Amino acid sequence: MDRVQTGIAGMDDMLNGGIPAGRHVALYGGPGAGKTSFCFEYLYRGAKLGEPGLYITLEETTEDIIENMKSTFPMLSDTTDLIANKSLEIVKPDKLDLEDVANILEDRITSNGIKRAVIDSATMIRMSFATEIEYRQTLFEFLSLLRNLDVTSITTVEASTSKRDEMKYDIEHFVMDGIINLYNLDREDRRVRALEIFKMRGTDHSRDLVPFKVTPQGIKVYTGEKVF
Ligand SMILES: Nc1ncnc2c1ncn2[C@@H]1O[C@H](COP(=O)(O)OP(=O)(O)O)[C@@H](O)[C@H]1O
Ligand SMILES: [Mg+2]
Repeated sequence: MDRVQTGIAGMDDMLNGGIPAGRHVALYGGPGAGKTSFCFEYLYRGAKLGEPGLYITLEETTEDIIENMKSTFPMLSDTTDLIANKSLEIVKPDKLDLEDVANILEDRITSNGIKRAVIDSATMIRMSFATEIEYRQTLFEFLSLLRNLDVTSITTVEASTSKRDEMKYDIEHFVMDGIINLYNLDREDRRVRALEIFKMRGTDHSRDLVPFKVTPQGIKVYTGEKVF
């Protein structure tokens, strides 16, 4: 099976080599959990491997993403070059519309051969719908469209809680091929970052809750370590 290496330290071991190619993964987490950083590094590592990536931001401006990621990951210093030569493209659509997102994706697959995509976040799109039913319907249609494209994507979803036992099953949990949860766990006097692969169709994977850190060199997932 073809796999897409996330390139994030420790993550591909947990995925038995990477995300199965062509699958669509949801990345869950509360505010500040590290979703944007995780997605950006996924595209950065891909760009370094010669797999162009597209970051569709629905929340922050492209300038904000670039500025924040440069300060989060100062050691990934060739980010500017990768953006300049379109190995890593960041786009903010004019409208909060999944059809628009799909069109941008199709266009960049044809014109730029992108292999990896990020949509940040589904929650922004959900908020643009009056009812949950309309959102569900549109998300289903969007996913069937995505499945016809030769791209491996991560879509972020804003979780309403950072507590592991309060995590609800949202619609995205059922329709997406994979789910990775990021937590900012509350400990007595500090917060601890942890993640788990909740589901990943088409591959065996670790089911451990493991600590991770956001470092200037990139995210580090401490496979095999316990969360304290
Ligand atoms: N250089 C850094 N080292 C450690 N942590 C950082 C660094 N830069 C940013 N962070 C942390 O990353 C968090 C932001 O992560 P982000 O990926 O934007 O989260 P999300 O998209 O889930 O809201 C910040 O709240 C901060 O705690
Ligand atoms: Mg974010």
